[in-house]
Amino acid sequence: MAQAISIEGGPSSRAKQWRSTPGVDEPLRARFGDMGCVDSKSPNPTESCSIDNPATAVSKGNQSAPASPGSSTQSTRTGSKSDSRMSTSSVASERSRESILGRFAFAKGDKALLGEGTSSVCYLGSDVETGDAVAIKVYKPSRKGSATLAKFKRQVSVLQELQRPLERPAEEALWCEELASADPADLFLKLLDFSKDSDGEPAPDQADGRLYIVTELAQCTLKDWLRLRSQRSSPLSAESVRKIAGEVVLATAWLHAKGFVHLDIKPENIMMCGGRWKLIDMDGCVRAGSVIKMYNSSVSFSPCYCAPEFARLVVKGSSMVVKPSMDAWSVGMTIAELVNLCPLLRAKYQQISAGQSAQAGTMSFLKWLGAMQAMGLPRRPAWSQEGQFKALLYTCLLVPDPEFRNTLAQSLRAPYFRRQNMG
Ligand SMILES: Nc1ncnc2c1ncn2[C@@H]1O[C@H](COP(=O)(O)OP(=O)(O)O)[C@@H](O)[C@H]1O
Ligand SMILES: [Mg+2]
Repeated sequence: MAQAISIEGGPSSRAKQWRSTPGVDEPLRARFGDMGCVDSKSPNPTESCSIDNPATAVSKGNQSAPASPGSSTQSTRTGSKSDSRMSTSSVASERSRESILGRFAFAKGDKALLGEGTSSVCYLGSDVETGDAVAIKVYKPSRKGSATLAKFKRQVSVLQELQRPLERPAEEALWCEELASADPADLFLKLLDFSKDSDGEPAPDQADGRLYIVTELAQCTLKDWLRLRSQRSSPLSAESVRKIAGEVVLATAWLHAKGFVHLDIKPENIMMCGGRWKLIDMDGCVRAGSVIKMYNSSVSFSPCYCAPEFARLVVKGSSMVVKPSMDAWSVGMTIAELVNLCPLLRAKYQQISAGQSAQAGTMSFLKWLGAMQAMGLPRRPAWSQEGQFKALLYTCLLVPDPEFRNTLAQSLRAPYFRRQNMG
């Protein structure tokens, strides 16, 4: 299969620029986490950072949010607090079109804003032909226009590729029978449309120059849902954890069997849609085996979820070969969060970064992560100490040495999931 994404290239002298000039290349401070346990002066280690500047997470609200007609609210439909810097002024002052791509209308009113990510804002819309509700992802204007365009094109090509039938990959470890019977429509959001040039290729919209992606509408992120459970002191049952974990592992195994690596798997990038948890945000997906370099601002990661080997490479500032095992760790962290209801490493991050600048704190945390020998797991609820769940995390996914970490297809064969299949 053709290499869809080229992420090689560029002058090596820039490779370490982010280290010597923090904040110059990407002068964005991380947003105060909305889960209330991170100091407001610290970066939020659960939000995505650009790898060219890991200490200054690409925060929500630091770039101007694209306007949406009729959108005057700052609250999101999924429950996330929108950042106060999300620039209501830009929403109010910019005039946008009533409809886009000749077919989709933005919703009006205070339900119009669905959510905001590192590089985009997502609005509620409708298909004017069918009346169906849709999600319209609008990329934020950025000084790094080429990186944004690269993310947008990646999102389109990966979503298109994911809906095509899966061929059994050459690498046996990436295959399991569950993949043969899975339907990609159950695993990923359906792409409905996107802005194009006159040849129909993904490009800035010919009418207003913006980058749009329209997908099926999802209901809420796993992050928001877990926060709600945490606020209500309502832990998930063992069966719920098994079901969600199975869906996340299956979707990521499919992505890997297709030859992609996500690189930013976390509860914020998993959404409930049509009764299933689906993997979203393919902007940063790259082909397994690609080499990424530190100045590549179109690739993001989140410190609390990134694999130890990824952390080591960021600390060293060297280029790295992307492998599916990096996602396997992030999936393990996400599954552990299903029982913890809060990012597993957030407290550690706070402890390590206390009293340091944003850059120094993040680098100290990444150094610690890169040197970690064994991942500690939550002790509650009691059932999470049960053998098969612990074995999934300890012996399959949260294994610091990537050589000994299982692939996600292998993990689906673990006794923990087999028991589910047997009912
Ligand atoms: N299809 C969708 N339906 C509803 N909300 C969505 C949808 N896609 C994205 N969102 C919301 O928008 C946020 C940002 O989307 P995402 O694709 O993760 O963009 P980014 O690359 O900017 O992180 C998500 O965290 C979620 O809250
Ligand atoms: Mg996202």
